[in-house]
Amino acid sequence: MDTLNPYLLPLLLLPLSIYLIFSIRKRASGNLKNPPPGSMGWPFLGENMELDRLGSEKLVKERMQKYSRDAFKTSLFGEKIAVLCGAQGNKFIFKNQNELFARWSLPSLAKAIYPDLERTRCQEPKASFDNFQYDILKPDALKKYVPVMDSLAREHLETEWRGSSVVEALPSTKKYALSLACMIFMNRGDLDHSGDFLKSLSLLTKGILSLPVNLPGTTLNRAVGGGRVVRRELLRIVQERRAAESEGEDLLSKMVVATNQDGEYMSDSTIVNVFIGLLIGAEYELSSLITNVIYYLAELPHIYHQVFEEQMEIAKSKGPNELLAMEDLEKMKYTWNVVRECMRLTPPSIGGISESIAEFTYAGFTIPKGWKVLWTPHSSHMNSNYFPEPEKFDPLRFEGSGPEPYTYVPFGGGPRMCPGRNYVRLVVLVFTHNLVKRFRLEKVIPNEKMVFSVSPAPASGLPLRVHPH
Ligand code: HEM
Repeated sequence: MDTLNPYLLPLLLLPLSIYLIFSIRKRASGNLKNPPPGSMGWPFLGENMELDRLGSEKLVKERMQKYSRDAFKTSLFGEKIAVLCGAQGNKFIFKNQNELFARWSLPSLAKAIYPDLERTRCQEPKASFDNFQYDILKPDALKKYVPVMDSLAREHLETEWRGSSVVEALPSTKKYALSLACMIFMNRGDLDHSGDFLKSLSLLTKGILSLPVNLPGTTLNRAVGGGRVVRRELLRIVQERRAAESEGEDLLSKMVVATNQDGEYMSDSTIVNVFIGLLIGAEYELSSLITNVIYYLAELPHIYHQVFEEQMEIAKSKGPNELLAMEDLEKMKYTWNVVRECMRLTPPSIGGISESIAEFTYAGFTIPKGWKVLWTPHSSHMNSNYFPEPEKFDPLRFEGSGPEPYTYVPFGGGPRMCPGRNYVRLVVLVFTHNLVKRFRLEKVIPNEKMVFSVSPAPASGLPLRVHPH
C-alpha cells in the first residue's frame, strides 16, 4: 500500500489539536460582526470531506438552500472562506478584484508548485510579464495553430481510437490535450511520452485541492514530490532553450529572450511557474471539458446528430487532406453552443479564490480582512431565473443575445478571467469535428457516475464503443 487515506493523518492528530483549535476559533469568532451563515465543519478538516463526498456542485447547492442564496461561509483547504453566490456575487467579485481582493494561491498548490515562495499570496509571475505570456493565447496569435491542432487530432484518433473495440475517453483526451500544449507552447511534443513526467504532473495536480498537511503519505506530500520532478524537467528544458543559438517561434523561445520595461529578463523559475500553470489548465480542465462533451454526445443522439450535420457540411467544403482553418471554426456555431451548454451543466473549474485585503460588507454580511473569498459557476449556472429548466440540456439557450451578464461564468470574469479561453474554444471544436466525422459513440457504462477531483469527470474514465461511419 503506497498511499494512505488522505484524512488518516489529520484524524490521528485530531484529539491533540481539537482543544487548541476550538479555543482559538472561539476567540476569533467572538470578534466577527455579522458573518455569512454556514458551517466551518470539523476542526482543521473543515468541510473538505463534504467536498469530496458531494462534489462542488452539490455542496454549493445544498449550502445555498440551507443558509442563504446570497452568501455562505465554509472552511476548505484549511482556510476560512466566504462564498459569494449568484450573478450578483460573481459581479461583486469580478468588479472589485483589484481593489478588495488580492491574488491568492491555495496553500497546497503554492507548496507543490512554488516551493520558493514564502507566502501564499501569489506574487509570481510578475505582473509586468502578464501581458506577454497571455499574448500567445489571443485569437490572432492562435490562428496559425488551428492546422496543428487538426493534424494532431487526426493522428490521435486514427492511432488511438480506430480499430479499438473500447476506448477510455478521459485518459485519451488528457494525452491529446497535453501533447498539444507541449507542442504549441514549447515545441516539445515528445514530453508527454515520458511516463515519469506525466505521473509526476498527475500527482502534482491531485494535490491542488488537498488539505495543507505535508507529512509522508498525504496527498500533498505526493504532490510536492511530483512538483519537484516536473519543475526539474521543465527547468532543464528552459536552460537548454536559453543555451540554443536559434530563435524559435513557440512561447518558450519568446519567453527566454523577453524583457520587461526595465530591461530585465524573466527568471528561469518564473518561466517554469508559467508553464506549470499552462500544463495544468491544458491537461485537467481542458481534458475534463472534452470528455464531458463526448459524454453528452454519446448520451444524447439528437444532439450528436445536429453536431454531425454541421461538421459534415464543413468537412465537405474541404479538400481530402486539407486541414481546418480559423474560418471553418467560425462556422461551428451549433457545436460551440453544445460545448457551452456542457460547461454550464458541468463547469470544468470550481471557480476562483482570492484573499480579502480589507473587511467588506456584502448582502448585509460582514467578511473580515484575511478571509478567502470564492466565486463559483455552480451558484448561477443552475438557477432557473437565469436558465429556465436548468437540468435540461439545451444548446439553443445560447442563441441570440445569450445569457444575462454574470450568470454564465465558466471562465470567470473581470481582470482574472481565464486567459486560456480562446485556446480552449479552438481545441475543443477541432477535436469534436474530427471525432464526429469518424465515429458514432456508444457508452459502455450507461449511467456512469461523475466524480469530482480537480475537475469533474466520469468515474470510470468514460469507456466507449466507437463505431466508424
Ligand atoms: C475548459 C478549460 C478551462 C476552464 C473552464 C478554465 C477556467 C478558469 C478559471 C475559472 C480561472 C480562474 C479565474 C479567477 O481566478 O477568477 C482560470 C484561470 C487561469 N487559466 Fe483557465 N480554464 C481552462 C483552461 C485553461 C487553459 C487550457 C489554459 C492555458 C492554456 C488556462 C490558463 C489559465 C491561467 C494562466 C489562469 C490564471 C489567470 C490569472 O490568475 O490571471 N486555462 N481558468
